[in-house]
Amino acid sequence: MAWITKNSGTMQIDRRDEPYLTDEIKQKLEDEVVPRYDTRMAVTMPALHLVQDTHGWLPQQAIEEIAEFLGLTASQVLDTATFYEEYWLKPHGKYVIWVCQSLSCELLGQQGLTQQIGEHLGIGPGETTEDGKFTLMSVECLGSCGTAPCALVNHKLHENITADNFQKVLDALE
Ligand code: FES
Repeated sequence: MAWITKNSGTMQIDRRDEPYLTDEIKQKLEDEVVPRYDTRMAVTMPALHLVQDTHGWLPQQAIEEIAEFLGLTASQVLDTATFYEEYWLKPHGKYVIWVCQSLSCELLGQQGLTQQIGEHLGIGPGETTEDGKFTLMSVECLGSCGTAPCALVNHKLHENITADNFQKVLDALE
């Protein structure tokens, strides 16, 4: 086992003039979310969700803007954003394929399916195709173990998937 370290001190951050945490998002948070919590720190996750829903992912500049808005450090916000796999710290494809890797799906062939999907798209789990169309992800139980193996494509659940029927799903998206 090896620790993989990043030199965050010299990391280059892409910045743009327009903020990701827009005045509109700030106002929505102040009006609808902040009053529901005792601390501004508790608003971290809703703020991350709102920014991600608006922009599709969470650039480092957005993490810093959320931190400043909530009176936190950027590392505190980043701690939360990196803990949950639902937050995207890099852009993802137009279609995100989440293949379940938990027990029922594992027993019914998830590994072979993931490999087959990855080979078809030319990517591995956690990667995005060069054209930005597909991202392949592994995920824990999707709550549909009785119809394993399962995968989500964005928010649509596909059950009892096989190499053949999932190929048709991919063909339709391509
Ligand atoms: S194990 Fe795959 S849906 Fe539950």
